[in-house]
Amino acid sequence: MEFMEVVKKRYACKKYDGAPIDPAQLDAVLEAGRLAPTAKDEQEHHVYVAESPEALAKVDQVTPCRYGAPAVLIVTGNAAKSFVYPGGQLNAGLEDAAIVATHMMLAATDAGLESVWVNNFNPAEVSKVFGLPEDETVLMLLDLGHAAAEGGAPLEKHTIRKPLDQLVTRL
Ligand SMILES: Cc1cc2nc3c(=O)[nH]c(=O)nc-3n(C[C@H](O)[C@H](O)[C@H](O)COP(=O)(O)O)c2cc1C
Repeated sequence: MEFMEVVKKRYACKKYDGAPIDPAQLDAVLEAGRLAPTAKDEQEHHVYVAESPEALAKVDQVTPCRYGAPAVLIVTGNAAKSFVYPGGQLNAGLEDAAIVATHMMLAATDAGLESVWVNNFNPAEVSKVFGLPEDETVLMLLDLGHAAAEGGAPLEKHTIRKPLDQLVTRL
């Protein structure tokens, strides 16, 4: 798919039909995350794949936002191991994870899947429930699947975006 077509086609899908996704589709999504850039090329993010009934039940424990998706990616960043900005105030841990997650979200569209970025969870709770390493912080969950015939379409707000002149200032 042409890039702008992918960007325009992607939307937050909030109801899935529950049908499993093809392993090749999942591989394409994960590969797009693997190829994402990170600060100083540190690559200290991690992606966890929840697909088993046990793992999906744990997802349902930590967020109301799985919406019946048959697969959910959990994306973490690692502040301790990532690039620290000069001045020492900021690090690129979650920034890197967000770039990886965005690559995967767009790759999902390209692979013929719907998705939604989810941050309605307590990161510490997700870490505990899945037993994630202590130095990782959960950035987001990415629901993946096929839209339900009813209720799986884009929300009305999806097409409403501010005009460029409100979002961009030419200096
Ligand atoms: C950072 C971020 C966090 C989000 N968290 C949630 C969430 O927890 N639950 C949810 O249903 N949707 C969530 N969304 C989806 C947004 O509601 C949706 O992307 C937004 O309304 C725009 O709609 P569109 O993606 O269809 O264009 C999130 C999106 C982003 C970018």
